[in-house]
Amino acid sequence: MLKNKEIDEILITEEQIREKVAELGKKITQDYQGKDLIFIGVLRGAIIFMADLARAISIPMIFDFIAISSYGAATESSGVVRILKDLDETIEGKDVLIVEDIIDTGLTLDYLLRILKSRKPASLKVCTLLNKSARRKAKVKVNYTGFDIPDKFVVGYGLDYAGKFRNVPFVFTLNPKIYKGELK
Ligand code: IMP
Ligand code: MG
Repeated sequence: MLKNKEIDEILITEEQIREKVAELGKKITQDYQGKDLIFIGVLRGAIIFMADLARAISIPMIFDFIAISSYGAATESSGVVRILKDLDETIEGKDVLIVEDIIDTGLTLDYLLRILKSRKPASLKVCTLLNKSARRKAKVKVNYTGFDIPDKFVVGYGLDYAGKFRNVPFVFTLNPKIYKGELK
């Protein structure tokens, strides 16, 4: 269970997430009428958002997943990106929507977009729950954004620190003592 002392600040509440997901789902439903939608979740952080967003979209779709290496246990992007698990589906001629938890430097997404583009989808767009544009290093186009957030390391609603806090239903910053190992 999450302890109160582990929380520094709650940035986005469950209620705010619920409203935003409904709004994004409505928009995507309108934009993808008559299209052959493939929803691609970037493991592991995007799955909570993806599950909620998919249920806010009322057109047929299929799911697929891709896993890409990013941070390990640290809070800084290494810049080294590789595929850990590839898609199961063929995306050629399909309308692909990548679902991300957060875009930070944009390096991960930039790499992913290059790979997927080479497989010739009919369209390729990106939906992210969170956007930290202050830290952008790669220029990437994001089509749907939930929330723009300041340059802070956040967890919850799919996002983790050292594998933890993904199941917390809101987005928050951690007590800095956690990074120093002072809080057990
Ligand atoms: P980027 O390549 O720097 O854009 O990093 C993207 C990935 O880094 C995300 O999909 C997350 O897995 C991770 N990440 C970036 N910022 C945060 C954060 O504030 N909290 C948790 N994970 C993060
Ligand atoms: Mg991720």
